[in-house]
Amino acid sequence: MRTYLVTGGAGFIGSNYIHYMFKKYGDEIRIINVDALTYAGNLENLKDIENRANYSFVKANICDKEAISKIFAENDIDRVVHFAAESHVDRSIKNPEVFVQTNVLGTAVMLNCAKAAWENPDGSFKEGKKFLHVSTDEVYGSLPDDENAFFYETTPYDPHSPYSASKASSDMLVKAYMDTYRFPANITNCSNNYGPYQFPEKLIPLIINNALQGKKLPVYGDGKNVRDWLYVEDHAKAIDMVQEKGRLFETYNIGGHNEKQNIEIINIILETLQEMLPEGDPRKAYINKDLITYVEDRKGHDRRYAIAPDKIKSEIGWEPETYFKEGIKKTIAWFFEHEDWMKNVTSGDYQKYYEDMYDTKGAK
Ligand code: NAD
Ligand code: DAU
Repeated sequence: MRTYLVTGGAGFIGSNYIHYMFKKYGDEIRIINVDALTYAGNLENLKDIENRANYSFVKANICDKEAISKIFAENDIDRVVHFAAESHVDRSIKNPEVFVQTNVLGTAVMLNCAKAAWENPDGSFKEGKKFLHVSTDEVYGSLPDDENAFFYETTPYDPHSPYSASKASSDMLVKAYMDTYRFPANITNCSNNYGPYQFPEKLIPLIINNALQGKKLPVYGDGKNVRDWLYVEDHAKAIDMVQEKGRLFETYNIGGHNEKQNIEIINIILETLQEMLPEGDPRKAYINKDLITYVEDRKGHDRRYAIAPDKIKSEIGWEPETYFKEGIKKTIAWFFEHEDWMKNVTSGDYQKYYEDMYDTKGAK
């Protein structure tokens, strides 16, 4: 039975990936999830699979060499899928250091421990071992407002935020391990994800949550920054396909072919909420464009991201499957069905985060 070590599996994409993998492979695989349970990690995301015999959870920080090498010593790990990271750009602008710690040093620890466990005495690596580093399109920087400009795997790195600089550094470390040791790895650079279990610091869940409560909807700058949105389950599938069918040592870009301005996203969410709320629901009266509030722009705000997912399509046969209208409906339906999840994650520290981040921007 193949054993996966998933880092950051209690977060948004990691928990969706674990669900996807159990749905696809059932009892054919074993997953060990290692997560430090920061503010973004939530074991509630994994409630329905936590009692499976082929799943286990280890609470540990990826920067903790001893804890990570113990996992490798006690288990014959075949695949590492490395999600764990500090992931929010706005937080990186306020507090960059933890991004360097987790995203750079944590990745170095993961690489070192996997290398030590997988290396043969002659410097080659044991058959079938693979490490997948989950990264972002933000490493490529910002595109102009030109619909013919895209990020390719060959686009030079040009990160701007402390978050994207730390992810770019971690990508470079993975590349260095592949070039120096022929360490068996892949890198994937994906565009913006949305879907169930996303923490409401990110645009889509924040707007859904605020709109349902009749709170202001903060739009940074002119609202015309463009992101390329991908339904999270499509990302999970792409990661699995890259590990199964991709060429080792290669980078694959993953994107939704779904570029939208932030203001368009907000308008679609408002319309979809109106469509989905039942007649007579009192929230229908206040969910409208009057909630939209333009606030101070994000510092160094990248203008446009757009992935050309040509390589992953031609080499591996992966394509985005979920149309945005369908994906946003599924996402909103999930939030309707999981009101307690939202209440739990927005109680306590979230209130303070929201005040610190948005009061100063002018969206009290
Ligand atoms: P997230 O913030 O929702 O989850 C991160 C998880 O990592 C949490 O469970 C957290 O507890 C854990 N974690 C953080 N620091 C840790 C540490 N030091 N040790 C162990 N665990 C730690 O993030 P996400 O949105 O699910 O993103 C997952 C990965 O995908 C990240 O590497 C991110 O850069 C990448 N990515 C995200 C997106 C996106 O749109 N969200 C797009 C492309 C790539
Ligand atoms: O592109 C992939 C990246 O997408 C991932 O690597 C990151 O982990 C992930 O957080 C995401 O980064 P963004 O900065 O693009 O996502 P965010 O949801 O924070 O913002 C999306 C856009 O919406 C961005 O242009 C900023 C804007 N925005 C965001 C928030 C939270 C607003 O206008 N208002 C808001 O309140």
